[in-house]
Amino acid sequence: MSKPYLPLWFDRARPLFGAILLFVPLYLLGVAWFAADPQTIDIGYSPTQPVPFSHALHAGELGLDCRYCHTTVEKAAHAAIPSTEICMNCHDRIAPNSPKLALVRESYATGQPIPWVRVHDLPDFVYFDHSAHVNRGVSCVECHDRVDRMERVYQARTLRMGWCLECHRNPEPHLRPQDQITNLAWQAGSPEEQQRIGEELRRKNNIQPSTSCSTCHR
Ligand code: HEC
Ligand code: HEC
Ligand code: HEC
Ligand code: HEC
Ligand code: HEC
Repeated sequence: MSKPYLPLWFDRARPLFGAILLFVPLYLLGVAWFAADPQTIDIGYSPTQPVPFSHALHAGELGLDCRYCHTTVEKAAHAAIPSTEICMNCHDRIAPNSPKLALVRESYATGQPIPWVRVHDLPDFVYFDHSAHVNRGVSCVECHDRVDRMERVYQARTLRMGWCLECHRNPEPHLRPQDQITNLAWQAGSPEEQQRIGEELRRKNNIQPSTSCSTCHR
């Protein structure tokens, strides 16, 4: 009698199973490693920029609205980094000979954009959308902290999945009136008042942040 077919097939496939058993943990380790890329998780990450641009001066002291420069933040997934033309709206007259602005003038003359260095950078397998937050009562300050006080921008939050989900599960403490979205100094009078405002805005605007995987991994 010949042996049944299955065990023979199984026997031949043995090395394959072995390889799979070996590779699955390695693969998971790899995913975990790349997801833990320092730029994703480093609170305080603050690369040196080609021009010493200060938010504390421009957004803080001078009081320029975030949207004056980050023009797409309410309309698109990405918040645009301003073009040199926007800087030159002022700097063709203000501090026109400052050495700190040499690269800005050069960029304006040549048309080569200033090579700003990215501060925040989620892994490519995550989908994020600014407009979906900024138009639903979530201020810049919830995710970027007091940029209007920063000489040089740094990453203020972990940007980890658990951090996103914490707010998606319980958004009330993080919602504010729409006209205060870029006023980073705005605060409700007390935690109780914040809770009341949050609940009211959530009900009125039917805010239902999703926690299903495909919202952020698509
Ligand atoms: C005068 C123009 C201007 C204004 C006003 C401005 N920004 Fe910026 N912002 C920039 C420039 C230029 C960069 C890129 C250089 C840098 O990171 O400092 C930047 C970078 C950033 C970054 C980091 C982007 C990255 O690479 O991850 C954040 C966050 C940010 N701005 C938030 C804000 C917020 C919040 C406000 C309003 C309180 C604001 N900005 C107002 C010009 C501006
Ligand atoms: C809910 C959290 C959240 C809010 C609210 C938020 N941001 Fe961001 N921001 C992020 C994350 C996350 C990134 C990194 C996105 C990526 O890597 O794709 C980012 C990146 C940026 C960048 C770099 C360009 C880009 O889009 O990747 C700028 C500039 C910026 N934010 C400005 C702002 C400003 C101005 C506001 C308020 C008007 C704001 N952000 C509100 C989370 C937020
Ligand atoms: C609304 C006008 C305005 C805009 C727009 C603007 N700035 Fe300024 N900026 C100023 C003023 C005012 C000062 C302070 C000048 C002084 O101290 O003499 C300044 C100072 C600076 C300085 C320091 C200059 C020095 O010699 O100390 C740098 C660098 C700078 N800005 C870069 C930028 C960049 C880059 C942009 C575009 C992303 C920009 N600014 C957009 C008004 C502006
Ligand atoms: C401080 C609160 C808060 C944080 C932090 C936050 N979110 Fe959200 N998110 C919201 C709210 C509020 C909405 C809007 C829900 C609605 O419109 O019903 C939303 C909506 C979204 C949407 C839906 C967009 C669409 O097209 O429907 C995506 C995607 C998203 N968030 C991704 C993220 C990711 C990724 C992170 C972390 C990097 C994050 N969020 C962090 C509050 C937050
Ligand atoms: C609100 C947005 C959001 C939702 C919803 C979400 N994720 Fe994520 N996820 C992220 C972000 C941001 C990262 C990258 C940062 C990190 O690794 O924590 C991430 C990373 C991951 C990673 C990489 C490994 C790691 O470090 O955790 C896996 C795996 C993952 N998500 C699976 C899931 C699954 C499964 C679900 C559904 C149960 C889910 N995610 C829902 C935002 C989200």
